[in-house]
Amino acid sequence: MYGASDPTAAERTAFRCAEKQYKLYKPLNLKGRSRSRSKPSGGEGGGADLSAVVDFHALLAADGELPAGIGRRDCAGFDRPVFCFLDRPGFYFIPGALSTAEQCCWIRESLKTFPQPPNRTNLTAIYGSISDLLIAAENQKILVEAENPDIQERNEQNNCGGKMEYKYFKFVDSESQKGEEHRSTAATTLVRKLRWSTLGLQFDWSKRNYDVSLPHNKIPDALASLAKKMAIPAMPSGEEFKPEAAIVNYYGPRDMLGGHVDDMEADWTKPIVSISLGCKCIFLLGGKTRDEVPTAMFLRSGDIVLMAGVARECFHGVPRIFTESDQQEISALISQLSSGDDVFILDYIKNSRININVRQVY
Ligand code: OGA
Ligand code: MN
Repeated sequence: MYGASDPTAAERTAFRCAEKQYKLYKPLNLKGRSRSRSKPSGGEGGGADLSAVVDFHALLAADGELPAGIGRRDCAGFDRPVFCFLDRPGFYFIPGALSTAEQCCWIRESLKTFPQPPNRTNLTAIYGSISDLLIAAENQKILVEAENPDIQERNEQNNCGGKMEYKYFKFVDSESQKGEEHRSTAATTLVRKLRWSTLGLQFDWSKRNYDVSLPHNKIPDALASLAKKMAIPAMPSGEEFKPEAAIVNYYGPRDMLGGHVDDMEADWTKPIVSISLGCKCIFLLGGKTRDEVPTAMFLRSGDIVLMAGVARECFHGVPRIFTESDQQEISALISQLSSGDDVFILDYIKNSRININVRQVY
């Protein structure tokens, strides 16, 4: 949209200004080669003015008159309160759609099973398929580069002189590597480096499309039925949402998702069902161009957002997640995870956010 002739134009848009207003961290000062941590922006303690951020939980609790531009919908066959913006048809907000137990279940799945092959993650391009990453992290394993036994066998069969053409990585006990010179990475570090995983039809980020030739499993039944149920407010009556793909985003304290439009699915009348887990964030919903001033709203663990129709064509993004200072926001989640043997997951989610967005591709 913004050509190379004016690379700064995108920086001046209303959407970009809102992102700057809300984001917690300034980018690292690369010019000065400073290696110090970036300081929170927006005044002391990163205290950006949050007074304009729409808080649907507060509206739900107040049960009074709604602010201008916000509506509440009662949907046949749907037993939860649903909010919408009158000028963004197709956008629906379902506050507290998931119980604490359901949130715990989806957080666990997001870390344990969703990154499992054949699902691809941002780590796949670097390390190839990695199985059981969460179990390896819980058991303090480390990932080391190794000779691929399959390739060795094949090379031997083909009489290739034992030359290894492909690298492969495997988890080993950290103890076993003491004194070894292999390049290694702790599994706990890798979980922190997880940025996305893809379920169902695999999305190819480099080509920005779905690559149906990539091996994939269908969307897990429990996630598909949750998405079908939650999509009801955004579906024509009698029609059922068909979950075919999902992108799972993992956000650490410094991560954000820049403004974008999800335009790779064939039918934009079908909603994206977007589930929030873990730390609270600010979500920006803009218009069809970056020049429209976006509306900011809080998204909390257990909230679900639907984007269909006109809202599918709107820029949106996540400029900020709230971690250290807002632990009371996820206190129910923390206490539920504390009671089990989920120490690693508890530690992870205290300063992370996970977003599962489920899509009908065709
Ligand atoms: C996306 C997206 C929003 C979120 O993955 O396309 O818009 O809440 N995610 O993380
Ligand atoms: Mn999106």
